[in-house]
Amino acid sequence: MAQQHYRITLLRGDGIGPEIMAVAVDVLKAVGAQLDIGFEFTEALMGGAAIDATGEPLPADTLELCRHSDAVLLAAIGGYKWDNLPRHQRPETGLLGLRAGLGLFANLRPATILPQLIDASTLKREVVEGVDIMVVRELTGGIYFGQPRGIFTTETGEKRGVNTMAYTETEIDRIGRVAFETARKRKGKLCSVDKANVLEVSQLWRDRITQLAADYPDVELSHLYVDNAAMQLVRAPKQFDTIVTGNLFGDILSDAAAMLTGSIGMLPSASLGESNPGVFEPVHGSAPDIAGQDKANPLAQVLSAAMMLRYGLNQPTAAERIEQAVLKVLNQGYRTGDIMSPGMDLVGCRAIGDALIQAIELLNA
Ligand code: IPM
Ligand code: MG
Repeated sequence: MAQQHYRITLLRGDGIGPEIMAVAVDVLKAVGAQLDIGFEFTEALMGGAAIDATGEPLPADTLELCRHSDAVLLAAIGGYKWDNLPRHQRPETGLLGLRAGLGLFANLRPATILPQLIDASTLKREVVEGVDIMVVRELTGGIYFGQPRGIFTTETGEKRGVNTMAYTETEIDRIGRVAFETARKRKGKLCSVDKANVLEVSQLWRDRITQLAADYPDVELSHLYVDNAAMQLVRAPKQFDTIVTGNLFGDILSDAAAMLTGSIGMLPSASLGESNPGVFEPVHGSAPDIAGQDKANPLAQVLSAAMMLRYGLNQPTAAERIEQAVLKVLNQGYRTGDIMSPGMDLVGCRAIGDALIQAIELLNA
């Protein structure tokens, strides 16, 4: 029996999900064997796969299983096939239900440029070299969950779509604290992003974050409006260390930050709550156009498994081994299509997985 033993729920989801998950599971088993960490993997249905099998994107037993595990590793969900279903039956609704159901209010999305991939970025080398940003996105509030919401019919018979962006002081404070703590462990710089020049909800956000700063005198706090933040991210991304923002702004800015690094296929994320297990998933989607063709980049999934070890299971050594293996494989010149550059070796998803296992085995030698 291994020294530590963890129950991991696997949600492979749709599209490239199963292929990239297979690689991540192999990698976890390999480091687990080296460090005497045991994993018990249980698969459950979510997203389009769950809709096909049960009619719902997040079956109740999936949520229960997640609640009773030590961590949840999620691949990707969604696809054209389910895009026209009513909202409550969409794969995305399952993902939002999982976040809400587990109370995962804090979403950590690191965007770090690896020297090996600088040429895969669409931005100039001097702009992106050295970029190392952590986006802390609020994940269970804001306009994604605010009431009222819906498409209503007005008195004149016209339809009117409504969503509500709302944050309570409690919601702002708890994500604010996670962000200050995160910044403290990094370079000590926190930029809070809002739209306080127009929105009351943002004014409250800014006021609370400013008040919290008194408890973190070692962290240098700044504020940006979201339009300016988007511009600064592509103009001079190195000015950022940690960014904290609400759900919708975080959704948008984390995709932009991801692309600085060359490919969204490289970026992991961690979604954490107060007590429930965390969910660890790549930032990218299910890429149905390349599903089943062995073309997907599994590295964001593998790095999500590393985040699971670090933030979810408190196993930093195992996380480091995985991250080292990823660097090794990139140094060897192996690339999937999304991060391909001249002179490199174009390989498939499984080949990257094999190279990772070899690299992990060499780390132990
Ligand atoms: C993300 C995704 C999701 C979101 C979608 C799939 C609901 O874009 O995790 O960034 O908007 O949060
Ligand atoms: Mg998104």
